[in-house]
Amino acid sequence: MASTDSPPGAQQWVPERPRSIAELKDAAAGCQGCELFEPATQTVFGRGAEQARIVFVGEQPGDVEDQRGLPFVGPAGRLLREAVDDAGIDPAELYITNAVKHFRFELRGSRRIHQTPGPAHITACRPWLVAEFGQLRPELVVVLGATAAKALLGPSFRVTRSRGQLMPWPASAEHPEDFPVAEIQVLATIHPSAVLRADNRDVAYQGLVDDLKVAATV
Ligand code: URA
Ligand code: SF4
Repeated sequence: MASTDSPPGAQQWVPERPRSIAELKDAAAGCQGCELFEPATQTVFGRGAEQARIVFVGEQPGDVEDQRGLPFVGPAGRLLREAVDDAGIDPAELYITNAVKHFRFELRGSRRIHQTPGPAHITACRPWLVAEFGQLRPELVVVLGATAAKALLGPSFRVTRSRGQLMPWPASAEHPEDFPVAEIQVLATIHPSAVLRADNRDVAYQGLVDDLKVAATV
């Protein structure tokens, strides 16, 4: 399928009345809602507490996550866990997932180079995110970086301008009707990979921790 075609989207693979995250995860393993399923190893679904108060949303699984089938288990995940700890958030209250659930990459020789998912992939995969929120009913959603922000807050949202602020949601969502969850808040911050790439890592890391400290007040 050419990436310019509009993919069918994940909706037809989402169970109608799911009873658990495990049921959603099983169904997502067979998703063919966009072309990313084909070259990737497997669907990487969210993971964490079924009673999570806080849900973190990243971009998409990376190389390590694609192979292990779990989100945020590579370098960005290690940094994120450290920042969560430094911010004083109890990891037992967390659920961590991604806006797009297959690894998008380009092959260069035998290396798989990360490619940012496009708007069509974000839209195609959104039904899984909606289903996760419907199941978890968290109090706060933490958006990590631009891709997750696009998925949840629309294309004009700028993380750098609005990071670290608690916002009512889904009132600020691009498609509020998509999100059948009342009374949640959303907070955007930078992606942990951006900290790993930053010229001044210490400053970038402290910025991430400071934003997460605001999340810890919820
Ligand atoms: N980056 C993400 O956005 N998600 C992961 O799961 C790993 C790295
Ligand atoms: Fe389905 Fe999302 Fe994977 Fe596309 S990226 S195939 S929509 S799970």
